[in-house]
Amino acid sequence: MSDIAQKKITPFLRWAGGKQWFIPELERFIPSDFGDYHEPFLGGGSIFIHLKSKGLIKHKSYLSDLNEDLINAYNVIKNDVTSLLRKLDEHKNEKEYYYEMRAKKFRSNISRASQFIFLNRTSYNGIYRVNLNGEYNVPYGGKAYQVLFDKEKFKELSELFKNSTFKSLDFNDTLSNIKKGDLVFLDPPYTVQHELNGFVKYNQKIFSWEDQESLKSFIGSIKEIGAKFVLTNASHHSIEKLYKNVGQQFKISRHSVIGGTHAQRGKFNELIFYNT
Ligand SMILES: C[S@@+](CC[C@H](N)C(=O)[O-])C[C@H]1O[C@@H](n2cnc3c(N)ncnc32)[C@H](O)[C@@H]1O
Repeated sequence: MSDIAQKKITPFLRWAGGKQWFIPELERFIPSDFGDYHEPFLGGGSIFIHLKSKGLIKHKSYLSDLNEDLINAYNVIKNDVTSLLRKLDEHKNEKEYYYEMRAKKFRSNISRASQFIFLNRTSYNGIYRVNLNGEYNVPYGGKAYQVLFDKEKFKELSELFKNSTFKSLDFNDTLSNIKKGDLVFLDPPYTVQHELNGFVKYNQKIFSWEDQESLKSFIGSIKEIGAKFVLTNASHHSIEKLYKNVGQQFKISRHSVIGGTHAQRGKFNELIFYNT
């Protein structure tokens, strides 16, 4: 195991539904030995980055998300971190500059990644939200930082990402790489709101109830292959009913603030389904 594999490295993005809070609970669900690692709802990647930096992923990783800009950022960090850091140096955490940068359209992958990372860091709450034309429309955050970008972290992540594949895919299109003995960690958007009835929209494409149902059959296929899965989801009677016979179930309570404009503070239950 290299030094980099022993070090605690944290994500480079702020991401809705980030699973940082789940890390202390994680190890009871992760088998000590598994083949390749798969995460088809990668988001900010907190679970993958944690497992990889602790040396718990020993083989290949297949990582994907529907968000193309997000996946581009991972690929640029992996493949050309030096050029990315040079580009990140050009940014200023200023309101007028933010709106200029937000309106720009870049062609090169490096400029697009640099813009994406800059907007994530300086926007209001780091939310990813686009309008119907696919344009990012989150306002400026106005948060002061001592250091805008932690360059060392990007270099460490670049090392960490070697031996991993990042692709922009719908989760349904990720089955072909999954083999017997592999581990699949699934953290879909929570479209039912923790024991309340509202729907959460935080992406261009809403994760519909049909998506939840096809996720259930996707997990059925993972089990048929003979792979292991861990699924996180909101604690809601509809979710409990849908996934009832899919695997073992575990309920976790946590304190949190959930939501953007209509934020709610309180204790929330989360459900974990698994066959590990
Ligand atoms: C709850 S977030 C994952 C958060 C991540 N575990 C973390 O710690 O930051 C869910 C992710 O699923 C992605 N997503 C939404 N619909 C998807 C789909 N049909 N296929 C693949 N990814 C999807 C979203 O872009 C979002 O990044």
